[in-house]
Amino acid sequence: MSEWLYSNMVKDHFMNPRNALMEDEASFPADGRGMTGNIKCGDQMLILLRIADDRIVDLRWKTYGCASAIASTSMLSEVVKGMSLEEAYRIKPEDIAKKLGGLPDNKVHCSVLGDKALRAAIDDYLQKTGREGLFKEESVVICQCLGITDKDIETAVKSGSRTWEDLQNATKIGTVCGGCKDKASELLHGFVHIYGE
Ligand code: FES
Repeated sequence: MSEWLYSNMVKDHFMNPRNALMEDEASFPADGRGMTGNIKCGDQMLILLRIADDRIVDLRWKTYGCASAIASTSMLSEVVKGMSLEEAYRIKPEDIAKKLGGLPDNKVHCSVLGDKALRAAIDDYLQKTGREGLFKEESVVICQCLGITDKDIETAVKSGSRTWEDLQNATKIGTVCGGCKDKASELLHGFVHIYGE
């Protein structure tokens, strides 16, 4: 039997996920809705937010992802409850992985789904309240299938990605149609040149 590589905290959140959506979406009328991922890859994430005075007062999430995606979104849902929208928008997958006591390297990309769905839900709410793009940094989508931007590639390189495999482990880029590989590789090399030692 292979060894269980996850921390006790990951196991706990996987076995007892917090704030998961148990019924259908209509059971939790939301102020902001964010969906990300690609069903072709078998992982998709939905986040529903209730918001008052620009704070997240409650939320639910649902995923078809793996144990790491479930545990990290469960932890994310606890961390962001009560946060202002802007604070929640700036949360990074690494912050969540740290709180979980770390994730195996090849599983870090699973935690980016929750993070992206959360930002999509906040963007949805901002759009509905006439403040579209308020927290958005200028970025360009490079991988259309998964919504991965040049900023995501930059962040991955800053966190240690150096090769195409590292970048895929960190972000899942290029794992659906592969059409983004040339452009993404070019950016990867550029950022490694800037940040690499
Ligand atoms: S554009 Fe399809 S995998 Fe990136």
